[in-house]
Amino acid sequence: MTWWRQTAIYEIYTLSFQDSDGDGFGDLRGVRSRLDYLVELGVGTIWLCPFYPSPMRDWGYDVADYCDVDPRLGDLGEFDALLRDAHARGLRVILDLVANHTSSEHPWFLASRHSRTSPKRDWYVWRDPGPDGGPPNNWLSFFGGPAWTLDPKTGQYYLHHFLPEQPDLNYRNPEVLEAMLEVMRFWLERGVDGFRVDAAAHLIEDAHFRDEPPNPAWRPGMRERDRLLHLYTEHQPETHGVLQRFRALLDRYSEPGAERVLIGEVYAPVEVLIRYYGSAEVPECHFPFHFTLVDLPAEAWTAERVREVVEAYEGALPAWAWPNWVLGNHDRPRISSRLGEERARLAHFLLFTLRGTPTLYYGDELGLSDVEIPPDQVKDLPGFREYGGRWSRDAARAPMPWDGSPGGGFTTGTPWLPLPQDFRTRNVDALRKDPRSFLHLVRQLLHLRRQTPALAEGAYRSIPAPPGVYAYERVWGSERLLVALNFSDRPRVLEASGDVLLSTHLDRSGRQRGLLALQPYEGILLRPSSSGGTMEVTTDGEEAI
Ligand code: NOJ
Repeated sequence: MTWWRQTAIYEIYTLSFQDSDGDGFGDLRGVRSRLDYLVELGVGTIWLCPFYPSPMRDWGYDVADYCDVDPRLGDLGEFDALLRDAHARGLRVILDLVANHTSSEHPWFLASRHSRTSPKRDWYVWRDPGPDGGPPNNWLSFFGGPAWTLDPKTGQYYLHHFLPEQPDLNYRNPEVLEAMLEVMRFWLERGVDGFRVDAAAHLIEDAHFRDEPPNPAWRPGMRERDRLLHLYTEHQPETHGVLQRFRALLDRYSEPGAERVLIGEVYAPVEVLIRYYGSAEVPECHFPFHFTLVDLPAEAWTAERVREVVEAYEGALPAWAWPNWVLGNHDRPRISSRLGEERARLAHFLLFTLRGTPTLYYGDELGLSDVEIPPDQVKDLPGFREYGGRWSRDAARAPMPWDGSPGGGFTTGTPWLPLPQDFRTRNVDALRKDPRSFLHLVRQLLHLRRQTPALAEGAYRSIPAPPGVYAYERVWGSERLLVALNFSDRPRVLEASGDVLLSTHLDRSGRQRGLLALQPYEGILLRPSSSGGTMEVTTDGEEAI
């Protein structure tokens, strides 16, 4: 098994993890000072959200220089020190590659917009106005309004799937691909372990710029952009060619046991998602992030539906492809806000016991909820527009609460976003002292996963269970582990014999024989008895005993 299959990834929203200089923004030295926490937690890989020089219109996802560090977050020397210290502790480091677009202040775009004859003109997607003088077609941007902005000086529109300040690069131009490969080489030479490709599904658009048809399923309350069916702006066949080139470069920098990995950010149903793995002969992503659980509405978190989600993905994957699971990220409401704390604990039990690389979003190990941000203090203006003013992504990006001191241990200054409302009681220090806390649950799950090949590498086998319970086995050689998760708000009874290795409630362990009553939202991990003992999950006994 290679490291990227065994590891757990920890997403660090760099601006919100740890401030080291009192300016209220998280920075690279701050991350470096917290590496021991991550080792203690038991994750093996960190994914750093963008730290490059940026006008911060989209908080770092508008990159003005791919090969440097924003002065607010450090410098290249600080990056090298972070990488060195992470590697010394056995942690891998993955960077965010914002490949689809640059900042409008990137020198490439400044040159491109300078004139129609600029050598960089074709590095971006420029089109003449439509017949009415308006945008060239009906494509919409994520952050509201058309995906096109007119540049009055040269009289053409340029494409942007996100903000007008995030113009889309033109990957049909081979020079652009070469330039991005050069960016990757820059970081690979420094020693990074891979990339998460931002907006990977959007790298190339339809060559004919056809209008997108209306989406008959659109309803008020859905995102404006989803008024259209994205036939021509997502998952275009040529995008795979770009990802194949990214992968080929990473493979050239890989050695057995030291692969450099490519992970794509792709929101798609599994039948589309699996295309991003490429093929065994021509691979693309080591895996594209699988977001079904990130977008699963709270009411769909039932044993039956979650089993379907897992089995649809397991069933769709080619034998050589490796799954992965994600519960949250910096673009979506936190899992504890979506499900409440008890069910969020159960969701993490699922995350770390399924087959596939898990990704943990910083702070979710504390059970953090979304923070409330008054509308006049919203920093994530693009996201606020995307969600029609109902929600902004700031809610899921609060500074990490390390302790109960005024800056939460995050900063000695004024944090750029408010700390979580309950940070005085819900912080790393406080939860460390409570042996049944969310933090201890996640720690124990991660440590068990590292020590137990059946959990890290074993096959997944579904097993029948009473209504409301989802049960499966993880099997590795002669080792067999049972996971049973009660998604219902009532106790459920199973027949099971063996050793309980862990439970969501952290209040049971040791030998278990015969009938086992799972508490509401309780999950257990059990090693069935080896000599003479049996493990069965019956469909009887739905009611509490
Ligand atoms: C996806 C990122 O996760 C999100 O935060 C960003 O706004 C868009 N891509 C644009 O880069």
